[in-house]
Amino acid sequence: MIRSVIKGSGSALPARVVTNDELALQVDTTDEWIRERTGITQRYIAGEGETTASLATAAARAALADAGIDAAEIDLIVLATATPDQTFPATATQVQDALGCNGGAAFDIAAVCTGFLYALGTADSMIRAGMATRALVIGAETFSRILDWEDRTTCVLFGDGAGAMVLAAEEVADEGPGVLGTRLHADGAHRDLLHVDGGPSTTGTVGKLRMKGREVFRHAVVNLAEVLQEVLVATGFTSDDIDWVVPHQANRRILEATAKKLGLPVEKVIITVDRHANTSAASVPLAFDEARRDGRLKPGDLVMLEAMGGGFTWGASLIRL
Ligand code: ACO
Repeated sequence: MIRSVIKGSGSALPARVVTNDELALQVDTTDEWIRERTGITQRYIAGEGETTASLATAAARAALADAGIDAAEIDLIVLATATPDQTFPATATQVQDALGCNGGAAFDIAAVCTGFLYALGTADSMIRAGMATRALVIGAETFSRILDWEDRTTCVLFGDGAGAMVLAAEEVADEGPGVLGTRLHADGAHRDLLHVDGGPSTTGTVGKLRMKGREVFRHAVVNLAEVLQEVLVATGFTSDDIDWVVPHQANRRILEATAKKLGLPVEKVIITVDRHANTSAASVPLAFDEARRDGRLKPGDLVMLEAMGGGFTWGASLIRL
């Protein structure tokens, strides 16, 4: 059967690190409060010249080098972001031009923190439908540019960055590598709990992120546990079969609560939220790339990716490396 096999990964972070103590000079917060409630100790913040497109391009280049695939072979770029460089054209087209693989399909996906799962599900479907043979799937964000830096309930939670995967269509055996199953969901009834209060068609401004954190937290744990179970049933595996979970990095307590609901030890969960904070669509591929490069994720491993975010949107994908 034809599957989308993950051939490589890459990531990129801005040069500047901002610690909790530095933030505490700016808003009424403390390192202790942020660590205790979220597990975050620092985040990377984009500086002048660093944009969603530049971070995405750097992550894509690293993923191509890791895969040993030339950019010219890429015929699909799906880029998940809620912070594009411009309203249009899609940031994916900027990445395509920077890489010099012009001509294939390239578009952005907006599913906020679940964006990478939506992008992966879309690219995998297009590959299996014969519409693409080699794809770059990217999650890239500069959330620092849509934060209200006077709102301590949100500005301490987020960071900037990008991560990418290279997928290739390959004929594999049943037990071989590739994307095994993805499930995606949305419930627009909750869109006001986490939103940006501006946009081109309403205020004509970019707007700032607004969130009711406690309610987001409650929904996140329930929705994630459900979709993880749904993917396991669809693919015929159980939680005991999972080698690693690579979750969206919103909050250490959400990661721990979700692992507990699945009956998985927290040692099987890749955690980067302490250093990256919440990088929205970039967080899953950033964590995935870090764990692959440090040798935790190995060929043959069964890995669950999962995320939940604004909309609400949520989803999960089971992959064999
Ligand atoms: N520093 C100090 N105090 C703060 C801060 C801060 N940065 N932020 C809020 N507080 C105060 C509040 O004002 C409140 O004070 P009060 O009791 O005097 O009114 C108190 O701390 C408690 O506030 P809560 O919002 O109830 O705190 P909670 O324990 O719920 O933690 C948090 C807040 C960390 C946002 C939590 O609700 C959470 O993690 N929610 C999930 C949201 C999330 O991760 N969203 C990311 C996007 S969606 C996603 O990626 C899944």
